[in-house]
Amino acid sequence: MKNIVLVGFMGTGKSAVGKRLARQLNMKFISTDSVIEEREGRPIAEIFEKSGEPYFRGLEKSLISEISKEDNAVIAAGGGAVLDNENMANLRKKGVIICLDAAPAVIYERTKKYKHRPLLNVEDPLLKIRELLDKRAPCYAKADYRVDTSDKSIDEVVGEVLTVIARSRRRRSNPKEIASG
Ligand code: S3P
Repeated sequence: MKNIVLVGFMGTGKSAVGKRLARQLNMKFISTDSVIEEREGRPIAEIFEKSGEPYFRGLEKSLISEISKEDNAVIAAGGGAVLDNENMANLRKKGVIICLDAAPAVIYERTKKYKHRPLLNVEDPLLKIRELLDKRAPCYAKADYRVDTSDKSIDEVVGEVLTVIARSRRRRSNPKEIASG
């Protein structure tokens, strides 16, 4: 089974949705953030603070190159992984890439009570969310499919992702469908 790769901004539900999807489909679940934290033995906020963002991006990049060789995995990629074209190309080799989206205000509400995301530990997180979303929009647009998660429960998003995957399988087995959209 092709990997299912969830990309998207912080707070769009990649981990919660990914875990549930993996359980339902009997696939393994890999969160790039969790593997990095495990291997480094420290939280991402500390990696950013003590070693800097470029160091984190390097870890993320080599991990993505490694896990892109897996099969039968649901992969939740950190929100900034899409910024690197090589990451996207690696993830696409054996996976279908689905971007989870949400409106800035929804992202703000979902993330405001947590302090583990260094990029949002700023004076005006909503402004930062808007800025980063604008900057990253062309990267998220490179996903194969997009699912809006605003106002949806985890189960509803899982349902939509399953529909998208079924569509992508039909397209692979019947390429003519691509022409008709
Ligand atoms: C980041 C998103 C985070 C984590 C790091 C940087 C980003 O992952 O990788 O804090 O640049 O958007 P989540 O999207 O899982 O929160």
